[in-house]
Amino acid sequence: MNQRLVSPNTQEEETASEGSLRPRMLDEYIGQSKVVENLRVLVEAARAREEPLDHLLLYGPPGLGKTTLAHVVANEMRVSIKITSGPAIERPGDLAAILTNLRQGDILFIDEIHRLGKVVEEVLYPAMEDFALDIVIGKGPAARSIRLSLPRFSVVGATTRLALMSSPLRARFGAVQRLDFYDETAMRRIVARSAQIIGVEADKEGVAEIARRSRGTPRVANRLLRRVRDYALVRAEGHITQEVAAQALELLDVDASGLDDLDRRVLRALVTKFGGGPVGLDTVAASVSEEPDTIMDVCEPYLLQKGLIHRTPRGRVATLLAYRHLGLPEPEEQTPPQGQLF
Ligand SMILES: Nc1ncnc2c1ncn2[C@@H]1O[C@H](COP(=O)(O)OP(=O)(O)O)[C@@H](O)[C@H]1O
Ligand SMILES: [Mg+2]
Repeated sequence: MNQRLVSPNTQEEETASEGSLRPRMLDEYIGQSKVVENLRVLVEAARAREEPLDHLLLYGPPGLGKTTLAHVVANEMRVSIKITSGPAIERPGDLAAILTNLRQGDILFIDEIHRLGKVVEEVLYPAMEDFALDIVIGKGPAARSIRLSLPRFSVVGATTRLALMSSPLRARFGAVQRLDFYDETAMRRIVARSAQIIGVEADKEGVAEIARRSRGTPRVANRLLRRVRDYALVRAEGHITQEVAAQALELLDVDASGLDDLDRRVLRALVTKFGGGPVGLDTVAASVSEEPDTIMDVCEPYLLQKGLIHRTPRGRVATLLAYRHLGLPEPEEQTPPQGQLF
């Protein structure tokens, strides 16, 4: 699969330097003020009670700061964090091994928690609820179950798909926080902060241009910033101005609204192949030869937020804005079919 420049969910070169760009404490965390406030209360209450943090579930599109927040919360609680993910825990035994290695107060971060298997989930329920691990010893009629007690720990779960999580699992989280796309002010602050950390000169308008085209997503902002830095180095003596940023991003096919090539192909397919919809997402995905998951996690939330598409019970619909964005003539008002009896 080709790497999308604006795809917020690929793990590539920045993982090495991503660490340095990650805010470490709640005070450094830009934007999402409501989430931050809620987490501050959660953390302070847990510390006042000298108890582990309530189990916390973070959800929202990729690249918005879920993993970062899990680390921030661990730092704030001054506990260590163990990291795993839904697909990595294949069998109940894998989970049992992780759980029995936790210490009192530790945070277990489970990324992509919606991808946990059902059998594994069933081991997690009593662990989260009663800090207990039920293991079956022996086989057949002689089999018996014993219950081990676990240290009191906290789960921080992250998912891009809340809807795919089973309700019993969801119900075990005391706190559920949703991350949303960042507004432009927050995005500017994030870009300015990252520029300072990676040591690149960018003026205010240059920062604003990158922020505007970063689809409200910090990970995208950091990635675009690096590409613009490269461009500036080669073409503009390293200095990022509005003009330099716009040229660099144009060259990378990121348009003025932050849409990339795939976003535009999705929109164009919706408009030209399916008459503006409604059409199912899988059909759109097939017509642009992409994974439905990518379209659903990455393209769709942003296109919805920009008002370029709507979601209806029968599928996705292109809005008038989509036609305008693509520079296509707007469709005529739909006339009801003739001869229909009401
Ligand atoms: N509030 C924020 N302020 C500054 N940078 C952020 C913020 N949230 C996320 N980032 C940056 O965006 C990158 C992606 O965040 P991450 O936590 O990995 O997203 P997610 O886990 O939701 O996909 C991080 O490396 C971090 O540098
Ligand atoms: Mg993550």
